[in-house]
Amino acid sequence: MNTRRILFVCLGNICRSPLAEGVFQHLVAEAGAVDRWEVDSAGTGAWHVGELPDPRSREIARRAAGLSLDSRARQVRPDDFRDFDYVVAMDRRNLTDLQRMQREHGGEARLMLLRDFDPDPGDGQVPDPYYGGPTGFEVVFQMVLRSSERMLAALEEEEAVGG
Ligand code: 4NP
Repeated sequence: MNTRRILFVCLGNICRSPLAEGVFQHLVAEAGAVDRWEVDSAGTGAWHVGELPDPRSREIARRAAGLSLDSRARQVRPDDFRDFDYVVAMDRRNLTDLQRMQREHGGEARLMLLRDFDPDPGDGQVPDPYYGGPTGFEVVFQMVLRSSERMLAALEEEEAVGG
């Protein structure tokens, strides 16, 4: 299987998508698949470009999974739709923004919602925890973990079958 590139996207790239990036990368490593996946994250907005993830995201990642989230926020760019095979949105607003960008700039990336892979999908979106308390981050972490486990398995199976 060729190396596949996957980009996780939220609004600010400091709360949800850095968590998804870290969790997915961790699952890839556990599966012995690091040579098959390149993982990144970005935000549709530019407010936090260059910042580390929100301390609440860093804390839950460290506490729940021993992960250190060190990537710096960046904004989605037109080339992402060419450079990545999969672009994975946290909520429908992100997805709508990405669809509009892809219509405008082209590119073959497949757009998806992370919680399409959640066995307990709720309303299908990872809610924005930015303005809430730390329990929001715990809930978001669990959603991201459940969804990412299923997504990695599903995409690896697809790749194995379809090349
Ligand atoms: P995220 O959360 O999209 O999960 O990174 C947010 C972080 C910052 C803002 C909004 C959402 N903000 O408006 O600054």
